[in-house]
Amino acid sequence: MGNRSKRTVPEHVAIIMDGNGRWAQARGKPRLFGHHAGARRVREIVESCPDLGVKYLTIFAFSTENWQRTQAEVSGLMKLFKRYLMSETKELVTEGICVRFIGDRMKLDETLVALMDEVELLTCDNDRVNLTIALNYGGRDEVARATKRLSRDVAAGKVDPEDVDDETLASYLDTYVLPDPDLVIRTSGEARISNFLLWQSAYAEYEFVDTLWPDFTRDEFASVLSKFSTRERRYGAVPG
Ligand code: IPE
Ligand code: IPE
Ligand code: MG
Repeated sequence: MGNRSKRTVPEHVAIIMDGNGRWAQARGKPRLFGHHAGARRVREIVESCPDLGVKYLTIFAFSTENWQRTQAEVSGLMKLFKRYLMSETKELVTEGICVRFIGDRMKLDETLVALMDEVELLTCDNDRVNLTIALNYGGRDEVARATKRLSRDVAAGKVDPEDVDDETLASYLDTYVLPDPDLVIRTSGEARISNFLLWQSAYAEYEFVDTLWPDFTRDEFASVLSKFSTRERRYGAVPG
């Protein structure tokens, strides 16, 4: 099953970047102020990955449930994503970052999707760090979309239902090219998954930290990773 290993450095770290709104509120500012501060943090964490030995980093930027926020916050976030991609693409290319997006693109506006396609294309030959951005992503939505595509292939006679196993389903997920996450970090003190990488995190380790995302530094990231290295991953077996 995927990337079972005894590595002490997680190969794939996934982060639920939470707490931007509270960070802003604590400063008497609008929530979007916190989202901008949060976006600035992303670069520092991405750039620390090669030194820390992290090969895959996946970040949760916008969930399928986040559309329920006010129209002002949603449109502010969409504008921020566009601005971020426009201003960061060059840096991502030169830093050797390979960028991918997971989530349902159908609901996103054309301009944003065009920027996402462009950054994927421009960075696809890079391999220093694999950065995956989850945008309009929900774990259940991903499994439902995967099932829809798989059902079509079954109906078309391309897949025999008797051959369907967990690897088959995994190959239909948005994350089909990625190893499973070894470590999932959530900032802001909330201890829940909020529909992030449900299938892929079956054997991930979890780390919940109180720090709000805009305050999450490279040093704290490093210390969470070193804590991970002391854990024993058993995958349901009895350690020998
Ligand atoms: C995470 O911060 C970013 C997104 C969900 C887009 P929040 O906006 O959820 O911040 P809090 O949890 O309200 O503080
Ligand atoms: C999860 O955070 C989504 C992202 C970080 C993008 P939320 O703030 O949306 O999750 P809940 O509402 O606290 O569960
Ligand atoms: Mg939140």
